[in-house]
Amino acid sequence: MDLFEYQARDMFAEHGVPVLDAAVADTPEEARAGAERIGGGTVVVKAQVKAGGRGKAGGVKLAHSPDEAAEKAGEILGMDIKGHTVHRVMVAQGAKIAEEYYFSVLLDRANRSLLAMASKEGGMEIEQLAVERPEALARIAVDPIDGIDEAKAREIVDAAGFDDDVKDAIADVIQKLWVVYREEDATLVEVNPLVKTEDGAIIALDGKVSLDENAGFRHPAHEALEDTAAADPLEAQAKAKGLNYVKLDGEVGIIGNGAGLVMSTLDVVAYAGEDFGGVKPANFLDIGGGASAEVMANGLHIILNDPQVKSVFVNVFGGITSCDAVADGIVQALQILGDEATKPLVVRLDGNNVIEGRRILAEANHPLVTLEDTMDGAARKAAELAAAK
Ligand SMILES: Nc1ncnc2c1ncn2[C@@H]1O[C@H](COP(=O)(O)OP(=O)(O)O)[C@@H](O)[C@H]1O
Ligand SMILES: [Mg+2]
Repeated sequence: MDLFEYQARDMFAEHGVPVLDAAVADTPEEARAGAERIGGGTVVVKAQVKAGGRGKAGGVKLAHSPDEAAEKAGEILGMDIKGHTVHRVMVAQGAKIAEEYYFSVLLDRANRSLLAMASKEGGMEIEQLAVERPEALARIAVDPIDGIDEAKAREIVDAAGFDDDVKDAIADVIQKLWVVYREEDATLVEVNPLVKTEDGAIIALDGKVSLDENAGFRHPAHEALEDTAAADPLEAQAKAKGLNYVKLDGEVGIIGNGAGLVMSTLDVVAYAGEDFGGVKPANFLDIGGGASAEVMANGLHIILNDPQVKSVFVNVFGGITSCDAVADGIVQALQILGDEATKPLVVRLDGNNVIEGRRILAEANHPLVTLEDTMDGAARKAAELAAAK
């Protein structure tokens, strides 16, 4: 889960990382009030979207009075930045910047380690710096157990070549940012720019934090950071019902039991779809181990409500929950859904008690259901039905 800048700023503040006074605002009026509370001097109005390069896109504007803050907020709210509409701004105290630096610590999957990166040349897009002048970006491996202690912070600061007058302060801030990374179970903590102000203070001016959702159970407070407004409504419904659902772009809805089976189903559908004008999976829905009628009805309800879905492929391998129970589940789910079920369903069952499962479905003889014996055959049928719609 990625955080908004204002959330990262609050998190930094909690862990003692120096940040500027700030307020969030959803309207120009609130922006005016925020600027007044901050003290009425120069402030910066910043678009809160989960995309970088807001400055270049016109989403970061200086304001010299509360009235001007309201005016700039009016310009920025509603703006589109890289496909994200701005619904909220942060009004931050204006900093007198002398220098802009870069620092990040992130999970380096390829090296099964953590990686710290630092540069004296922050502010600009760091990807560009990394490509054009890689020597200007220090990269230091960080052991996940040892983390960034004082010695490691000094190593990073030396490798980046910071001037002597800021070394101590930056090393201190880096250790605090490490505490954010560790204590909050982050996978990324990035500060760009980390600035030196005209009076020599080191401040995190922009922050980007990604949290590891697998560690969510350790952080009840993180739930409140979720951007529920932006989540796909069907994804939110699925989550509430304990289903693993991911929206994709294609036309064939997919229900399976177990992530491995669902993922291979996505592949066979995409492959079969090539023969039907590029039909693709519309979503990923894993109903997990217990495919009861209720779980199946919940799954079908979600998939059938995706307007992009033209056909549904139910691919189940009977295990502890046997095929006859799954077949009963499908039949009952279709009864529960009634008129809501309008799209063709291709069902492939295999595994424990498959003969009985197929018999139940054949006997029910539901007009929307086609039974197929093989996964490839069923994928082909589902793609064909989706293309015919
Ligand atoms: N509080 C602030 N005071 C003064 N200048 C700022 C402030 N916040 C940002 N800036 C300036 O705006 C630039 C872009 O802002 P930043 O928050 O990094 O957004 P982004 O990375 O999305 O472009 C910074 O590099 C900095 O020069
Ligand atoms: Mg930035």
